[in-house]
Amino acid sequence: MNATGAEHVSIVTGGAGFIGSHLVERLLADGDRVRVIDDFSGGSEANLAAVRGHPNLEIHTADIAEFEAIRSAFQGADRVFHLAAKADIVPSIQNPMPYHRTNVDGTINVLEALREARVQRLVYAASSSCYGIPDVYPTPEESAIRPMYPYALTKYLGEEYVRHWHQTYGVAAVSLRLFNVYGPRVRTAGNYGAVFGVFMAQKLAGKPLTVVGDGAQTRDFTFVTDVVEAFVQASVADVAGEVMNVGSGDTYSVNRLVELIGGEVVHIPKRPGEPDCTFADTARIRRVLGWGPKVSFEDGVDVMLENIDGWREAPIWTTEKIADATRDWFRYLGK
Ligand SMILES: NC(=O)c1ccc[n+]([C@@H]2O[C@H](COP(=O)([O-])OP(=O)(O)OC[C@H]3O[C@@H](n4cnc5c(N)ncnc54)[C@H](O)[C@@H]3O)[C@@H](O)[C@H]2O)c1
Repeated sequence: MNATGAEHVSIVTGGAGFIGSHLVERLLADGDRVRVIDDFSGGSEANLAAVRGHPNLEIHTADIAEFEAIRSAFQGADRVFHLAAKADIVPSIQNPMPYHRTNVDGTINVLEALREARVQRLVYAASSSCYGIPDVYPTPEESAIRPMYPYALTKYLGEEYVRHWHQTYGVAAVSLRLFNVYGPRVRTAGNYGAVFGVFMAQKLAGKPLTVVGDGAQTRDFTFVTDVVEAFVQASVADVAGEVMNVGSGDTYSVNRLVELIGGEVVHIPKRPGEPDCTFADTARIRRVLGWGPKVSFEDGVDVMLENIDGWREAPIWTTEKIADATRDWFRYLGK
């Protein structure tokens, strides 16, 4: 307990997004006062529907790239979960500047705002995309860093700033490199993106599932509540300056996902710069935090199917629309 009588006063940047909204629900359930900072560019009020009007929830609609717009929200907080980011691959290739502005400049603003307000702890949502196409599977944290597109680069630069603010200013910060997070509310609107959202909308509309390549590529799909647990544990553990992978500790083929979801399939071309496998080495987070995933892939997919109505408004991607949306991906990375 702290002076406010709440467990913690927690800031969640990006709290209206997919992972952020699950974290907000969890923190409120734990008794925290929660301040969401989000510009609602990618997130939505609908994501926070379950906690709307909660007496311990404050929403600050603000752009993290504007220091003056966010600094006052940090006063009196004692931990920050920094998840706000622009998080799409193709738009980051087409137009990298907004990615730098939010993911790098925005991260520096968050670091400066928390330093000014003397907030003790920060957990940063880093991305496994920093590994590019890794040489080693499962991939440990000390693997080579090879961002393949601007989104990955900007998330990694954000991580470096977080590390530097720890080293120079003593900010007790931890970065979690997330691997392929999925769960209800996985982002669906707008841009072509993560396979789960794409498949769910296609399944609901009775359209074929668009499988990239032969579908034998595998992903370390990690269920969102397991990721939220890692954030919470990282924020209270006696650890700082660490970077830790967060993954399911296993890897599943897209074909296996199709088998579990069920439905017709259509194949689309494999993309440059995408790994055939993502697979986290989770030894470090298991050792440091004692964290381990609890939700099996099969159970996680069941939860997705139970919540499939959530994808009713989502765009339905066809082979032609995907070809259009990914043209610049092939153009710039296919050389
Ligand atoms: N989903 C994954 O598999 C995955 C994997 C690795 C890392 N991550 C990281 O986790 C975090 C959350 O990802 P997500 O999947 O929930 O994405 P999301 O797009 O659903 O959430 C991001 C949130 O940030 C907000 N935001 C964007 N720009 C902002 C700005 N300038 N100011 C304030 N708010 C802004 C958006 O409105 C949105 O609510 C991101 O930092 C992402 O890079 C996600």
